[in-house]
Amino acid sequence: MSEHEGADADAYRTTAEFYDILQAERDSRLVAELYGDRVAAARGAVVDVGAGSGTVSLMALACAGAPVHAVEPSAVMRSLLLTRLAWSRADRRARVTVHPGTLPEADIPEASAGLVVCHNVVPTLGDVARRELWEAAARVLEPGGLLLMDRPRARAPRAAEIAVFTPVRVGDDTYEGEVREMACAAGAELAFTYTVRRGERVVRRRGERFLTRMLPLETLTRELGDRGLRWEETGERVLVARRER
Ligand SMILES: C[S@@+](CC[C@H](N)C(=O)[O-])C[C@H]1O[C@@H](n2cnc3c(N)ncnc32)[C@H](O)[C@@H]1O
Repeated sequence: MSEHEGADADAYRTTAEFYDILQAERDSRLVAELYGDRVAAARGAVVDVGAGSGTVSLMALACAGAPVHAVEPSAVMRSLLLTRLAWSRADRRARVTVHPGTLPEADIPEASAGLVVCHNVVPTLGDVARRELWEAAARVLEPGGLLLMDRPRARAPRAAEIAVFTPVRVGDDTYEGEVREMACAAGAELAFTYTVRRGERVVRRRGERFLTRMLPLETLTRELGDRGLRWEETGERVLVARRER
């Protein structure tokens, strides 16, 4: 199992191939819904932490004129992101800088960002990487700037939960995926299974496992407050903290 503490350049080696074909369309709609208004209003830079294939970054490039920093340690996920950028308009591509590591490692000027967005990332980090992330976010955010994230799970599932991705047809093949979430000592294990079928025949089946941490709101508010990031809003789905002035 990958615990991807934050700097594993090899993480997502199986998942990357299936990531966008199974998830990009749905995730693009979701990030627009969760962060679109705030990203569109951003004046300082937008920092996309754990950018993956770039769903948040691409939205920021399309709906705001601000510079974008895409921070992504995994080499295969960065490949997806750079391929998307290769097909983007040149004027948009000119506004995004890709940082091949974690936020503490990224060369982003202090107090230059209006927004730091962590979508689908925080529960995947270990305690040390998470606290380093808050510290770095406080450093790059301008006073009054916002840290946004999707709400992490506070408790592990009692019984295994299975989510199935919508299958996607590619030529003669159908790409399928499912994720099974099970409680474990450190939080929950996410076991992804990807299947490529041609008719009734399974052409390929691959799996990758990740660990996610349970993060009660009190833990997050305390950690962020310790770094000068004041809790502002605890919505059902998006959490917002503001860099103190
Ligand atoms: C579940 S993916 C989400 C990707 C993207 N945000 C999205 O929603 O599609 C988590 C991403 O976080 C990256 N990651 C892992 N540890 C990180 C860290 N310490 N700092 C920044 N990104 C990290 C992984 O490489 C991976 O691409």
